[in-house]
Amino acid sequence: MHANDANPAADTATFQSLIRSLPADFQWGSATSAAQIEGAGREDGKGESIWDRFCAQPGRIKDGSNIDIACDHYRRYPEDVKLMRWLGLDAYRFSFSWPRVQPLGRGAWNEAGFDFYDRLIDELLQAGIKPNATLYHWDLPQALDDAIGGLLSREVVPLFADYAAEIARRFGDRLSTIATLNEPWCSATLGYETAQFAPGHTSRAEAYQVSHHLLMMHGAAMQAMRAVGPKAQLGIVLNHTPSFPADPLSEEDRRAARIDDGTNVRWYMDPVFRGQYPADIVEYLGADAPRVQDGDLALIQQPLDFLGINFYTRSVLNGRQQFVTPPGELGFTDMGWEIYPQALTQHLLRITREYTPPPLVITENGMANADSVVDGRVPDAARIAYLRGHLEALAQAVALGADVRGYFYWSLLDNFEWNSGYQKRFGLFHVDYASQQRLAKDSAHWYRDAIAAFKAAR
Ligand code: NOJ
Repeated sequence: MHANDANPAADTATFQSLIRSLPADFQWGSATSAAQIEGAGREDGKGESIWDRFCAQPGRIKDGSNIDIACDHYRRYPEDVKLMRWLGLDAYRFSFSWPRVQPLGRGAWNEAGFDFYDRLIDELLQAGIKPNATLYHWDLPQALDDAIGGLLSREVVPLFADYAAEIARRFGDRLSTIATLNEPWCSATLGYETAQFAPGHTSRAEAYQVSHHLLMMHGAAMQAMRAVGPKAQLGIVLNHTPSFPADPLSEEDRRAARIDDGTNVRWYMDPVFRGQYPADIVEYLGADAPRVQDGDLALIQQPLDFLGINFYTRSVLNGRQQFVTPPGELGFTDMGWEIYPQALTQHLLRITREYTPPPLVITENGMANADSVVDGRVPDAARIAYLRGHLEALAQAVALGADVRGYFYWSLLDNFEWNSGYQKRFGLFHVDYASQQRLAKDSAHWYRDAIAAFKAAR
């Protein structure tokens, strides 16, 4: 290989093994979402989303912030695409804001909203970057919550399918991939059971009913988009946090880990790939299990072109079904999440073995770090170590038989980290929110060098 001597990424044994096992057309990317970066919360006809409303409620967001401006990406997207180009990205994952293109979630389309995505996609294509879109990254039109109860109502299913078909009609031949949902576990559990996310409810029964509706939204959107026949590949993005027993020898701890895995991984994988909910979890939920009608599961189980997995950390549980602090030999991120890359290798192999999935993509992986600008640089060595560790773990899984086609670092930019506000920084680029200035962190330089070295060796 032509390792660049000045290139720290290329020097490591890790990187050499990466180059050997990853496919030649492996996609290097980075990811964002509409609500977290766009801003322009009420401009050009955009409707209110449940996150606009949630931010306005005192106490919901830790730093009291909102998403009216965020990273001002709505205006600064040409500059942001230049950053992607500088990195050498093959692909960029972003989301459509449903209320920007259909302010009430049904009825009239907002042409000005579509125009924004039209310009963004053009800009990406001109830069040689493949646009990978998500239809639902948590910003439901508030009007749907007000009128029908939002995700609690089955009525949302055909409305989402209409929206999906419209996106497929307008953009389906210019997008490389379209994912229906991002991390439905978060929308359901954090939005309806723990109240950490919009709309901030506290009912486990609601959370599971919502999870069922989300899965139906996925199935109905897949069908509606297939009927349009876009060139884009179609799939879903799930968050997987593998569960471990605190004491592997304890029967109770192992059971707790299995239940946690069941509510996180299997609750979504089983209906999507097997057309059924896991029986042990239905039993565990008892009266809180969702009401399922005839035909619902057949709707959910649609053939997929790819499966996106978002991987950040693992969970460790004790026999009382409580999360315990893991050993953290490689440390913890600024979110308090353990850095544990080997779980990524194990997990990709397990998914491959148990579900025979379509090609896999790591649609998110990254860390929050307490970054600051020091003499015009952002020295984030911890993020470089995280990136290197996870890319190595991914490459190991590929070497052992997992079919992984791409990796998207979360996130391109520091941005609005939901209920944590702007305090948690995940970006490859530091954002100074007062000036909106972007600055490449050391990790951005590392990622850029890694991508360049990978390509030079091919
Ligand atoms: C998952 C979500 O998709 C994304 O929106 C979020 O910012 C990151 N994880 C980090 O928590």
